[in-house]
Amino acid sequence: MKFDIITIFPKIFDGFISESLLARGQKKKIIKIDVHNLRKWTTDRHQTVDDKPYGGGVGMVMKVEPIYKAVKTIMKSFRLKASGRSDSEGHQTRMRSRPKASKTRIILFSPRGKKFDQKTVRRLAKYDQLILICGRYEGVDERVAKYVADEVISIGDYVLNGGEVAAMAVIEAVSRMIPDFISKQESAHKSDHAQYTRPEEFKSQTTNHKSQKINESKKQIWRVPKVLLSGDHKKIEEWRRRNTDDRIRMRKY
Ligand code: 6GU
Repeated sequence: MKFDIITIFPKIFDGFISESLLARGQKKKIIKIDVHNLRKWTTDRHQTVDDKPYGGGVGMVMKVEPIYKAVKTIMKSFRLKASGRSDSEGHQTRMRSRPKASKTRIILFSPRGKKFDQKTVRRLAKYDQLILICGRYEGVDERVAKYVADEVISIGDYVLNGGEVAAMAVIEAVSRMIPDFISKQESAHKSDHAQYTRPEEFKSQTTNHKSQKINESKKQIWRVPKVLLSGDHKKIEEWRRRNTDDRIRMRKY
């Protein structure tokens, strides 16, 4: 899976990409993430990506032209690479035997989009390339949603400064769906039930943080449920079933 992010804040993604599972996934060539600075597709000296809204109003609106150019360039370059008809300079090389057409989905992030859920994750995981356009909150020229993007996604009912965090959510969730991205051991372990690890008894220092009352600030012992220490696998299974969130259990990871 190829992820292409279009953003005016490319550095936001540095740590996100270089740490953790995503770095391993890239090394194993299971995924590839490219971050593109939208300003690359501007032509003026100031590298302008936004402008005043028609009809008046406060704030600025991201222009359609640089986004359109970015998407076109990114799609073309992926097509050439996927079909094996380009070398590193983008020059045409030999033709392979009828390459399978690769599928691209262009996504715009906006709080006005369709709510992101696990069903969408599974659907998006079937594409070969996701182009993720990070809009800023104040807005993107509506022609991007209408004519450039295939779909508009929001990650929840709250407002973010821009689509960057939403893009990260999509990349993480979709990557997990790709075969071999997560090791067999990791995927066999579906932590949909409550879990505990050592120590068996944890002595909290002073305050019960959950109650705010000063006079409840006595020492407490927080215990692991006895059944988990019993070694009775039938009972443990039963306990886990009862301590599973149905909304999570019903989902297919
Ligand atoms: Cl995708 N963008 C912004 N700016 N805010 C959001 C969002 C997206 N999803 C929820 N809030």
